Amino acid sequence: MIDRRAWRMRKLLDGDQPAAHWPAGIGVRTLNTPADAKAVHALLLRAYDGDEDIFPSAEDWWARFSGDPEFDRDLCLLAFDTEGQLAGVALCWTSAFVKDLAVRADMRRQGLGEALLLHVFSVFRARGAAHVDLKVELDNEPGLRLYRRCGMVHVPWEG
Ligand SMILES: CC(C)(COP(=O)(O)OP(=O)(O)OC[C@H]1O[C@@H](n2cnc3c(N)ncnc32)[C@H](O)[C@@H]1OP(=O)(O)O)[C@@H](O)C(=O)NCCC(=O)NCCS
Repeated sequence: MIDRRAWRMRKLLDGDQPAAHWPAGIGVRTLNTPADAKAVHALLLRAYDGDEDIFPSAEDWWARFSGDPEFDRDLCLLAFDTEGQLAGVALCWTSAFVKDLAVRADMRRQGLGEALLLHVFSVFRARGAAHVDLKVELDNEPGLRLYRRCGMVHVPWEG
């Protein structure tokens, strides 16, 4: 069903792409441990503020997420602050779709969201993808501004 309150946005991975520029002290790696999964769940719960379809239980959320045929641990990109706490996350499906992008509230407006998104683009470019897509609610102004700034454009929902 077509969702009229949300856009599908797309970044074409043609031409040169700017490299991710990480805020000072931020380190990035993929999801490795059960503790990582718990931290991601906690960050998403807070970031989406109950608006998203995310299970309240970390175990249920992880079972559904990691059991999806489009799940790939290497496409779960985690950014950590200088104290080793999770600061932001980008979770992607193998179809080159950004399932979740979120930055911890106190870490926003420092360029971390942009760096995570640019990193996602480079990961999929290295995999040979032609484009990266995501869904954004039309009332998510910070999200829309970020995506436009990173060169994403509105495309129709398929089907
Ligand atoms: C959307 C979201 C991921 C953006 O993350 P972020 O880390 O704040 O993103 P950035 O820092 O790259 O950009 C945000 C703003 O900070 C500004 N900024 C970036 N670096 C800055 C710096 N060093 N100093 C001051 N401002 C800065 C950017 O220009 C941008 O400004 P704008 O919104 O006026 O255009 C974050 O708001 C979030 O997690 N929201 C809740 C979850 C969500 O909605 N996710 C998207 C679902 S589609």
